[in-house]
Amino acid sequence: MSSRTEPSPGAQPSEPRTAAAGSRSEEASPGSVPVSLRTRPVGEVVAEDYRRGAVFKQFGIDFCCGGGRTVEDACARRGVALEELEAALSASDLPRGEDRLPDPRGWDPGFLADYIVNVHHRYCRDSLPVLLAFAEKVARVHGNHTPELTEVDVRVRELAGEMEAHMRSEEEEVFPAIRAGEGGSAALGQMEAEHEHAGGLMAEIRALTSEFTPPPEACATWRAMYAKLEEFEGDLHRHVHLENNVLFPAVRVA
Ligand SMILES: [Fe+2]
Repeated sequence: MSSRTEPSPGAQPSEPRTAAAGSRSEEASPGSVPVSLRTRPVGEVVAEDYRRGAVFKQFGIDFCCGGGRTVEDACARRGVALEELEAALSASDLPRGEDRLPDPRGWDPGFLADYIVNVHHRYCRDSLPVLLAFAEKVARVHGNHTPELTEVDVRVRELAGEMEAHMRSEEEEVFPAIRAGEGGSAALGQMEAEHEHAGGLMAEIRALTSEFTPPPEACATWRAMYAKLEEFEGDLHRHVHLENNVLFPAVRVA
C-alpha cells in the first residue's frame, strides 16, 4: 500500500517472502545500515522497526502491499537513490525506547490476530462512521465548486463498505483458522488482494486531497476530514503491514 499515487502494483502480492523473524545478526545498530539490508524484503525491514515505515513512506515506497520486494528493487522502481534511503534509515534506527511500537515478530499468531482485531479493527470501526459523516457533509456543501470532494465521498463510502466486509471475513473465517493452526490457507491470498484494493482507494483519496492538504478557504469540517483521513491512512498502513508482512508469513511457514 503506497502513501503516494503510484500505479497500483497489483500483481505482486504473492512475491516470495522470507520468514517474518528475519535475521537478528543482520539487524542494524543505531547509525549504521548493513549492505545486506539492500537485498532483504521491505516488509521484513519495516517489521524490525516500524519507524522505518515512515522513511519508506517519505520516499514513496510501498511497504505494506509491496513489502515482498527487496529494498534495492523498490528503490529502482521508484527512482530512489539507494544511498539516500539508507542514510534516512540509519537516522531512524533509534535505540529502543518508549516511542517504539511493540515488536510483534515472534508473537503467537493467534495473539497477533487478537491484537489486530482489538487495536486496528476497533480503530477502523470507530473511525469509519466519522469519516463517512465528514465526507458526506463536505461533499454536499462544497462539492459543487470542488468536485474532488464528491470523488472523495464516493471513495470513502467504497472503502468503508469494503473494510467492513473484509474485517468480518478475517474475524469469522481467517483468524479462527489461524488460531486453530490452519492458517496457511488460500484465503490469505484473497485477504492480500483485498488489502491491495483498499490501499489503492486510500492512495486515490490521498491524491484527490493533495496529500491531505486543505486549501486556504477550507472550513473546519473540511480540515477535520483531511486530518482524520491522514490518521486513518497511517493506521491502515500499520494494520496491513502487520498482516501482510508479519502474520501471514508466520502462518505460511508454520
Ligand atoms: Fe486484513
